[in-house]
Amino acid sequence: MNIIFLGAPGAGKGTQSLMISKMFKIPMISMGNMLREMIKLDEGLKEKVFPYMESGSLVPDEIVGEILKKRILMKDCEKGFILDGYPRNENQAHQLEINEINIDYVIEIAVSDKVIVKRLIGRRICEKCGETFHIEFKKPKEEGICDVCSQKLILRDDDDESTIKKRLQVFHTETEPLREYYKKKDIYYKIDGEKDLMEVEKSIIKIIEENILKIEKAKLND
Ligand code: AP5
Ligand code: MG
Repeated sequence: MNIIFLGAPGAGKGTQSLMISKMFKIPMISMGNMLREMIKLDEGLKEKVFPYMESGSLVPDEIVGEILKKRILMKDCEKGFILDGYPRNENQAHQLEINEINIDYVIEIAVSDKVIVKRLIGRRICEKCGETFHIEFKKPKEEGICDVCSQKLILRDDDDESTIKKRLQVFHTETEPLREYYKKKDIYYKIDGEKDLMEVEKSIIKIIEENILKIEKAKLND
């Protein structure tokens, strides 16, 4: 069960990956989260990648490709994984193939640009554990405080209006072509990401369960 979650910034990739990861007990691999964690500990890496992240551009393919390869080799990925935010361009998708990292299906969480801006401006994340909230759509129990670890909630560095616009532009020009790329391989699904959180989750679970059934049927026929 190797799944890619595709979607614009703020589409809900992180929120849904976490829920699905817990439910199906497979790890969620978020390139954005990994980069944010790694640069806290590695000044050299920070110098190389932070300017890209801060401006809303993609970090160079060689850097994210190496990070991904190492992560996928870890034992917890043996039974499957969810890729949140990787690949983000055709070169990264090719690299998955070159490295024989098989993808079973790709789920795009589709959300319009107008909704994205509202989601990202209202997003708050925990500075310690990274848990995600929203001031309107996913309120913490206590304002400004993480439900999980009681630390302060903060705005992400790249969640200001001009960087959001740049991230959306990067998504449309570099990431959107992946739709056709995976449609051609016949492993692409699209769901309406503008529905509420639980509805979106239900649509994703439906796709996963249908695919599990398909695999089981194929095994029986073998
Ligand atoms: P990354 O951290 O992946 O950022 P992103 O793609 O811009 O996506 P986000 O994390 O902002 O959004 P999300 O889809 O996870 O939404 P979320 O669930 O939080 O990447 C950051 C940077 O790292 C990139 O810009 C780039 O520089 C670099 N990078 C990462 N991967 C890379 C790669 N492969 N190659 C090169 N560079 C890379 O939800 C957003 C908000 O909406 C939350 O507040 C949430 O509560 C709310 N929400 C979610 N779903 C719903 C819903 N259905 N209804 C109402 N509210 C909702
Ligand atoms: Mg995210």
